[in-house]
Amino acid sequence: MPTTHVVTGVTGYTGRFIAQRLLKMGHRVRSLTGHLARPNPFDGQVRMMLYNFENPDLLARSLVGTDTLFNTYWIRMAHGDMTHERAAENLRILFAAAQWAGVRRVVHISIANASINSHLPYYRGKALAEQYLREFGPSYAIVRPTLLFGHGDILLNNISWALRRFPVFPVPGRGDYPVQPGFVEDVADLAVALSESDENTEMDAVGPEVFSYYDYVKLVRSSIGATCVILRMPPGLALLGSKVVGALVNDVTLTQDELEGLSAGLLASRATAEATLPTGLIEWLADNADGLGRVYASELERHYR
Ligand SMILES: NC(=O)c1ccc[n+]([C@@H]2O[C@H](COP(=O)([O-])OP(=O)(O)OC[C@H]3O[C@@H](n4cnc5c(N)ncnc54)[C@H](OP(=O)(O)O)[C@@H]3O)[C@@H](O)[C@H]2O)c1
Repeated sequence: MPTTHVVTGVTGYTGRFIAQRLLKMGHRVRSLTGHLARPNPFDGQVRMMLYNFENPDLLARSLVGTDTLFNTYWIRMAHGDMTHERAAENLRILFAAAQWAGVRRVVHISIANASINSHLPYYRGKALAEQYLREFGPSYAIVRPTLLFGHGDILLNNISWALRRFPVFPVPGRGDYPVQPGFVEDVADLAVALSESDENTEMDAVGPEVFSYYDYVKLVRSSIGATCVILRMPPGLALLGSKVVGALVNDVTLTQDELEGLSAGLLASRATAEATLPTGLIEWLADNADGLGRVYASELERHYR
């Protein structure tokens, strides 16, 4: 008998790769989304349902009969009436609904360095969501990536887009803070593997390379064949530059909170020195850099319009 799983965000980034793997293994997949009208990337193989956070009974019913809930739901930044606190509360509702519906397992994609004591709402909200899962959910695996790369990504794509188009690329401050990228498809493999156990597990999901942010941008520049000058500058000026570009493309390219997280080294694991994801960025760029940054990927387009 094929097993049915729920994957949130199959029209997005990480969720799409998780769903691909499950379908290939012969499982059935349902998805929760905020965008029911979007084209279904799986040709009708994945049944799409609304998140329905405001109607927990309905949400719970959409989870009945499923084995594992793979959760990728989160927001990158607060926008309009959507905040990280609200996103964490939505996850409390989702995890409690999973428990009520008899879901066996939740594999939850969180973030490295999530902390209830963080002054950054993204990291604090993520820690809160993890706490809700431990308190209200069924058996769980919490997977904490740092920053991801792969097909369909926004961040690396837009860094490449800017490196290809502008004469100067701003690096906030000294640029010596660490980043430890991980391959999104490795995260999907890990998520699927962790769904098979019943043991509660928490782990950072990190790739084998740690770069300074400056070296990371330099690597991307050389991989895509751009010649733009990478300039260290005061963080405020770098943020201003990002805002100007954001106004040009009608998007939010970098927030003050993201800049603080990046400069504080939160995009590298502090919990483990051991890589849990095998693919390195250098290796991936060697085969995939050519397609990066050809078209701008809009965060607001993807999630708000
Ligand atoms: N991308 C990275 O570099 C990275 C790094 C570390 C950790 N993570 C974590 O990995 C998980 C998946 O990230 P991802 O980049 O793959 O996410 P994604 O595909 O862009 O979005 C995942 C899900 O969240 C929903 N969502 C996103 N923004 C939303 C908003 N503003 N309002 C309402 N719903 C929203 C999407 O809804 P729709 O289905 O309606 O689109 C989708 O179901 C997240 O928990 C993230 O924190 C990502």
